[in-house]
Amino acid sequence: GDLEKGDFEHFMLKEIFEQPKTIEDTFRGRINPEHTEIVLGGLLDVLPKILKARRIIIIGCGTSWHAALVGEYLIEEYARIPVEVEYASEFRYRNPILNSEDVVIAISQSGETADTLAALRMAKERGATILGVCNVVGSSIARETDGGVYTHAGVEIGVASTKAFTAQVTIMTLFALKLAKENGRISSGLYLDLIKELSEIPEKVKSILVKHPHIKEVAAKYKDAINALYLGRGALFPVALEGALKLKEISYIHAEGYAAGEMKHGPIALVDDNLPVIVVAAKDHYYEKIVSNIQEVKARKGNIIAVVTEGDTGLTSMVNDLFEIPKSHPAVSPLLAIIPLQLFSYYIAVMRGCDVDQPRNLAKSVTVE
Ligand code: G6P
Repeated sequence: GDLEKGDFEHFMLKEIFEQPKTIEDTFRGRINPEHTEIVLGGLLDVLPKILKARRIIIIGCGTSWHAALVGEYLIEEYARIPVEVEYASEFRYRNPILNSEDVVIAISQSGETADTLAALRMAKERGATILGVCNVVGSSIARETDGGVYTHAGVEIGVASTKAFTAQVTIMTLFALKLAKENGRISSGLYLDLIKELSEIPEKVKSILVKHPHIKEVAAKYKDAINALYLGRGALFPVALEGALKLKEISYIHAEGYAAGEMKHGPIALVDDNLPVIVVAAKDHYYEKIVSNIQEVKARKGNIIAVVTEGDTGLTSMVNDLFEIPKSHPAVSPLLAIIPLQLFSYYIAVMRGCDVDQPRNLAKSVTVE
């Protein structure tokens, strides 16, 4: 059950390994048995409003904010509706311009985060339609919103979010495709292909998880790092942010996630033969750009760990270590690319003797400001 560790040493590890099931639980019932339609029941009443929205603003904190960023890339790419992503803590106090043509979506595992709830209430007062993507059924955010979608990740106990994140990203993917279909911005061929791609994710996640011994070996090489830099582009940029957050939360190694193109504007100054640089380099239309970033890091003797698409042998000679993920459409690759990064952080934290499930100073849910 969700409340027992079973054969796992920590809840976090158990929750990482549950992801093939939790991702499937999250899209089951939302994709029809023929794999031809996406059905998001909790949004039915508000769908016309969303399709006409002046803009969609997605708010959240921590890991949920990263899922929101993935949503931004997917919704804008496929549905062509303008999206903004904001930290709930900023949004609530900065007197944002909002009216009844705006849709504000809160992403929150717990549904109780104080900043997110307060930001949502403020948006409602200003006339926006408010929606929730929550994991905890009946939580405050789920109750106060005009509609929403539950992630079906089950109870998450590890303070560092893993299965809730991939469930949130699954919802963002379904949501983007649904909007794209409804407003005619996606061809039916691509729509069907992407539903199929999503339905194949659980098996692909399994195939990454079985390679955990390799990830553990790589983790052993980097466990004494002082700093780490994570780079990605497009929808894999938020994956880099989330990878860095996982490492800093549980291992206390200072880690930064960066959009790879921004590296030259600051973080490149940190690169030396001591710095692990984790590059999310799956095959997509940014690939050539990310290869250039890898070359820039290599020229400065950084230690490169790359997340690459299986069969991509081109990078082998350029990087120190590789985590392979199965080939997939870029729309769904965030769900795969994060898996090795979760395990990498987990093993490093365990090797450093950290309390993985209860990291210092952090709480599972921050219900006070
Ligand atoms: C805390 C947790 C994080 C979580 C964040 C937002 O910081 O430690 O794991 O991402 O809150 O929580 P929420 O429940 O709103 O998703």
